[in-house]
Amino acid sequence: MVFQPQLKILISRDKIAKAVHRLAGEIKRDYQDKQPLLVCVLKGSFVFTADLIRQLDLPLELDFVRLSSYGAARESSGTVRIIQGVKTPIKGRDVLVVEDIVDTGTTTSFLLDYLRKKKPASLKLCALTNKPTRRRVSITIDYLGFTVPDEFVVGYGLDLDQRFRNLPHIYTLED
Ligand code: IMP
Ligand code: MG
Repeated sequence: MVFQPQLKILISRDKIAKAVHRLAGEIKRDYQDKQPLLVCVLKGSFVFTADLIRQLDLPLELDFVRLSSYGAARESSGTVRIIQGVKTPIKGRDVLVVEDIVDTGTTTSFLLDYLRKKKPASLKLCALTNKPTRRRVSITIDYLGFTVPDEFVVGYGLDLDQRFRNLPHIYTLED
């Protein structure tokens, strides 16, 4: 039997689209005369990044990083590893990290430290969702889509044990 939990829409595709549009406007304004390098954090932020970059009328470049995930657990293990680092030289670039969710902040903080060591001209963070109630590491989110409650969310790139990334809305799990 396929695991089939009840899903409840938390953020509809329309609301997501509006937020992506708003964020693109903020980013365009701030990077007007720049050639930013967007860093998409795999796998979760690929859907968000794909929608966001198509609204960004900027001479941007894109790279991908992959960090160790929770595996099948819903809780951060607290240790992060880089599975795939950036391929683009970062030194002197205006780097914008694109995240799906900032939860405890452990993963994002680790990634920002890793990128900062490569001496970018600037380093900012865009996150689709933020779960501030569980924060363990302080993080500044420069561009934020939504604050979400302390519940596990899936859809629009976000997974539970690799499932539900393909769903169009963001949902909470009813268990
Ligand atoms: P953090 O290190 O605790 O901030 O966790 C960040 C990573 O955990 C995210 O990039 C997601 O991959 C995953 N994550 C945290 N909360 C959720 C959630 O509610 N749904 C899906 N993935 C989550
Ligand atoms: Mg995940």
